[in-house]
Amino acid sequence: MAGIIAPSILSADYTNLERDVKLVEEAGAEYLHIDIMDGSFVPAISYGPNWVKQLRPETNLKLDVHMMVVNPEKFIDQLCDNGADIIGIHAESTPHIYRALQMIKDRGVKAEVVINPGTPVSAITPVLGMVDQVLVMTVNPGFGGQKFLPSTVDKITQLDTYRSMNDLKFDIEVDGGITDQTIRQAYEAGANVFVAGSYVYDKKDPAAKIARLKKLTSS
Ligand code: DX5
Ligand code: ZN
Repeated sequence: MAGIIAPSILSADYTNLERDVKLVEEAGAEYLHIDIMDGSFVPAISYGPNWVKQLRPETNLKLDVHMMVVNPEKFIDQLCDNGADIIGIHAESTPHIYRALQMIKDRGVKAEVVINPGTPVSAITPVLGMVDQVLVMTVNPGFGGQKFLPSTVDKITQLDTYRSMNDLKFDIEVDGGITDQTIRQAYEAGANVFVAGSYVYDKKDPAAKIARLKKLTSS
């Protein structure tokens, strides 16, 4: 089965958002990655839970929400009400990652734990049995268009090994610097969900880019 592609609208044209979402949906993407940034946990401010509400009726794509905020618990109920399908919480953003993930699961939404490039897998092993997805950041979060950090690949391998040794089923997502040049490394290490922002949206032909990423993640 080919990898799941999650285009990040952080790199889309906000004045033509509906067009840019339809385009990737028709091209075979499965998820739409929505980066919520608060200017505190990460330097930039992007958009908030209302974007999820407005996008929900516009697309059948699964809405994959990546929270880069302090106090993420404050927004979980609102995101669930607004139609998020997956909510990702950074392990570094709360002292209560277990509780935050449980809040998401209690609402029947998929719960994801996220780790920064400087955070080891050992920091999240206590919650790996309860999550639907793990996001390994392959750049420092905060901006699109950064370079993939190869040192993060080993963590994908560790998660893949832990998953099979413990008979778990979580998906492994990667985010940051994913292009036709870097996706294979992540795929071969065990990732199966691939966020791509600038590679898909920055230049011409998002549909061809998605087809290429799909091909590179088909065995
Ligand atoms: C970065 C965000 C990413 C971003 C990826 O903090 O989490 O989702 O949109 O952009 P690219 O694919 O350009 O690295
Ligand atoms: Zn993201």
